[in-house]
Order: sequence, then structure tokens, then C-alpha cells
Amino acid sequence: MKKIVLTGACGALGMQIRETLAGQAEELVSVDIQEAPDTLLANERFEQVDVADMEAFGPLVEGADMVVHFAAIVDERPFEELLGPNYISSYNVWEAAYRHGTRRVIYASSVHAVGMHETMAGIGLDAPHRPDTFYGLAKCFAEDLGKMYWDKRGIEAVCLRIFSCTPEPQNLRALQTWLSYDDLRQLVLRAVEAPVTGFTTVFGISNNTRAPINNATAGFLGFKPKDNAEDWAETLQANAPRPAPDDMGFTRLGGPFASVPLGESGIAGIKAMSAAATSEAPAGEPAAPNADKLPKFLSKKRDD
Ligand SMILES: NC(=O)c1ccc[n+]([C@@H]2O[C@H](COP(=O)([O-])OP(=O)(O)OC[C@H]3O[C@@H](n4cnc5c(N)ncnc54)[C@H](O)[C@@H]3O)[C@@H](O)[C@H]2O)c1
Repeated sequence: MKKIVLTGACGALGMQIRETLAGQAEELVSVDIQEAPDTLLANERFEQVDVADMEAFGPLVEGADMVVHFAAIVDERPFEELLGPNYISSYNVWEAAYRHGTRRVIYASSVHAVGMHETMAGIGLDAPHRPDTFYGLAKCFAEDLGKMYWDKRGIEAVCLRIFSCTPEPQNLRALQTWLSYDDLRQLVLRAVEAPVTGFTTVFGISNNTRAPINNATAGFLGFKPKDNAEDWAETLQANAPRPAPDDMGFTRLGGPFASVPLGESGIAGIKAMSAAATSEAPAGEPAAPNADKLPKFLSKKRDD
């Protein structure tokens, strides 16, 4: 391939996949609203651009074989705050892809597009959208946009419904929902390399013993995750308080996003869950009894 455009290149996940993508094309054009990363790869060009600004973003897609769209605000916010970054940006990506004859869009969707489904339902990729937040609704919007541009304009799309992508599983919920960085890179690579995809969704989740979903119909992509959150089960279970049976943080796929009021942060709930599972107990609460035995969880990034 000649050119791949990556949006959200400076984000936690964008930084993990730059090298993978750069290896797949003569040129990687990395785009973010933030300043460039400290170092660029040999065949990487950086553009500081707001993807919601079509005049600035659209021309960058000229000559691109694929756009990998990861830019977004990654939390629940009032609808108006998400409208530009999470809704208009997605329209701009697909419309620019159409105008420039781009073959495929690979999109960072999320579990939150189906976050109100019950964890124990074991849904597959054919389950209807059931967003838990305006953030999740933006993922539904973009997935449907991708489906429409495939049906009407023949642009292929692979929507990666990413669960909790962190260096290590950070809380009890992540025993089900973790996606390791290695598995993320493999997933992105499979989405790029698949000979044909039409319109496809695939759950982005590691090979977790307790994974609550079924990826069977996306098997043709060849995504075979290797990591398993179960390796952390003993430690996480030893320290986290047992959830109530009706705790939506566990009974719905979206976790804490399922119970927050619309417009209010879901990440805050995830951080609290992670603090309870590690020694980072909120002030005033007793630390877990065997906190000194805990591995040092990387707290750089919350899961989603
Ligand atoms: N991290 C997870 O566990 C997770 C789970 C599900 C889905 N996702 C999705 O994956 C993608 C990347 O997530 P992340 O964890 O790296 O988030 P992040 O917040 O670390 O990165 C997002 C990046 O997008 C950029 N951005 C935001 N608005 C922009 C705009 N209008 N124009 C250009 N750049 C813009 C930000 O500057 C940031 O660098 C997001 O679409 C997110 O919804 C992430």
C-alpha cells in the first residue's frame, strides 16, 4: 500500500499501533489535534489537525488506501461536547474516504455501542446496538455510517469494538473485558491485511477465559488473541470487594458506563473500580490487607 492515515495518533492506543501501521504502507500520515510525538518513524508524517474540521482534514486523505480512525474524546460527556470530536469527525473520515477513493476504513468502536446488553447474555456480533451513553451512541452512529458507506458507496469498514485496552487488567471487570496491547496490534494488523472485509464488526478483546462475547462471525479476519486476563485473577480477586449481584458495573457489558447518568463521566467509575482492586484505595478507606503483594499496576491509562 502507498499510504495509511491514522487519526488519534497521539492517544494511548494510537501510540501503540503507529509502528504496526507504518510497516504496512510506504507512508503513514499520523493525525492528532495534539502536538506531534517526540519522535517519528522513518516513513511517518505528522499533521496537527482537528478531524472535525473537514477543510483541514479532508485533503490529508488524498491517495490513502486506508484510514484508521482512532481520534475521539474517550469518556461520557454532554452530547454537545462529543458532537464534533466523536460524531462529525467520523462523518468526515468516511466522507473524505469516499471523495478520495479510499478502499477501507478501520474504526475504533467500543463495547459501549452495546454496553446495555447483559454480561451473561453472551452476545454475538449480530446483537443490536444498545448504547449505554452519548459516547456509546457515537460509536453506534459511526458503525452505521460505515455500514451505509459500504452499502451505498462500496467503502469497506472494519469496526473494532474495543473493550478495556490497558497494559495489564486493572480491575475485576477486566478479567472479562481486557484487551492487551499485543492483541490490539494483532487485531489492527488483521483488519488491515484481510483481503476483503465488506462491512465487519469484531470485538476487540483478549483470549480471556471469562470473555463475555462471541466473535465467531468475524473469524474470517483470523484474529487469534494470545493474552488472557486470567493470569491476574488471583491478585485481583484477593483485593477487590465482592460486587453486589445487581451491580450494573458487572451485570452490563458497559460496566460503570451502564449506570452513570447521561452526560456524566463513566471513566470515574472505572477508576474507582480499579482503585478498589489495587492498593490505590481512596483516602479514608482501609488499604487492601495484602496490598504489599500486589504487582505494580500501570496506572498510566484507565480502561474504557
Ligand atoms: N482505551 C480503551 O480501552 C478503548 C476502549 C474502547 C474504545 N476505544 C477507542 O479507541 C480510540 C483511542 O482511544 P485511546 O484510549 O487511545 O484514547 P486517548 O484519549 O488516549 O486518545 C484519543 C486521541 O484522539 C485525539 N483527538 C480527540 N479529538 C480529536 C479531534 N477532533 N481531532 C484529532 N484528534 C483528536 C486526542 O488528542 C487523543 O490523542 C478512541 O476512539 C476510543 O473511543 C478505546
